[in-house]
Amino acid sequence: MIPLSVPNLKGNESKYLKECVDTEWVSSVGKFVEEFEEQIIQYTKCTYAVACSSGTTALQLALIAAGVREGDEVIVPTMTFIASPNAVTYLNASPIFIDCDHYLNIDVTKLCDFLETKTETNSNFTFNKITGKRISAIMPVHVSGNAVDLEKIISICEKKNITIVEDAAEALGTFYTSGKLINKHAGTIGKVGCLSFNGNKIITSGGGGMVITDDKDIAIKVRHLSTQANIDNTKYIHDEVGYNYRLTNLQSAVGLAQLEKINKFVEKKRYINDFYKKELSDITELKVRPVPNYAQNNFWMSAIEVAPKDQEKLISFLARENIQTRPMWHLCHLQKPYRKNFCLQIENALKYQSSIINIPCSTGITNQQLVEVVTNIREYFKKNEK
Ligand SMILES: Cc1ncc(COP(=O)(O)O)c(C=O)c1O
Repeated sequence: MIPLSVPNLKGNESKYLKECVDTEWVSSVGKFVEEFEEQIIQYTKCTYAVACSSGTTALQLALIAAGVREGDEVIVPTMTFIASPNAVTYLNASPIFIDCDHYLNIDVTKLCDFLETKTETNSNFTFNKITGKRISAIMPVHVSGNAVDLEKIISICEKKNITIVEDAAEALGTFYTSGKLINKHAGTIGKVGCLSFNGNKIITSGGGGMVITDDKDIAIKVRHLSTQANIDNTKYIHDEVGYNYRLTNLQSAVGLAQLEKINKFVEKKRYINDFYKKELSDITELKVRPVPNYAQNNFWMSAIEVAPKDQEKLISFLARENIQTRPMWHLCHLQKPYRKNFCLQIENALKYQSSIINIPCSTGITNQQLVEVVTNIREYFKKNEK
């Protein structure tokens, strides 16, 4: 079986894990938690990092710390994993859904049009004229590692007093290479950003996430909430309802060992994408998905775009050949919990949802396996020609 994207644990992972077990520091305090946070700060060039139990819990705490309150609306792209809107819903706030652009990220033109024509801003806040609700935040998601075109979003959000909470779950290793955001890493541009270290991500800690920010108050609040809002370690005194959302030393040990290899992983992901671009370029029935030219992509996922009539058939064909692939997510605004939520003119996302196929891109994939993937895709189109 050639899997879609699986972990690569051939570095210091077992050594660091053994150290946790030998020293019996296995829970949510320990040197690896601190070191993992410190190394994420160094790598992404942010000021603060707080390790959390998952990308989802990181998002939930980031939203609370960013000031999202019950009854608010938060703008979320419909083309994202359901964890993004769920994190909003946990706060009893409502995600409202926007279409995606060519790179699968939030459609900036539609977003600006919505904010300019369908919202009202007083001296402090922006309100949705249609629902009457306050829009306190936006969650741009760097889908598949593609950097969101954030420059315009920043300027309109500053004007409208809307806080940017970046979902960079898939984008560790992506940074901007031109414009005002040059050299900034995905996740470090909004007020706060969140990473995921779930098993399929570019680095994994088994499960885990991290809140990254330059804002000291946000970092303090997230750390406080993630540790049960504890204000006295010996007397068990808590000043609000907190959460047990800290990453363990065991998970951090794995995460740290993984982070040591991030540059190699990005290099391999880029190699895989280049391989597919070169080897599939002559097949007219498909396109290897493009990435933004204003950023260095982490190429977390490699994907092809085919005619909707071929999508399911090609996925099944490859599955029969033991090659695992996936379409993009079922869109959030069509998911049962969100069908009644406010959404705007979703068009591109529907098109991409029915035409994109994510193809194998684990960092451990061999050249022979890459050739096998290409050969089988070629074979499918050859058979379908007749
Ligand atoms: C875009 C996006 N947001 C949020 C998450 C949630 O992260 P986690 O699975 O670590 O909770 C994920 C991945 O799983 C994701 O892909």
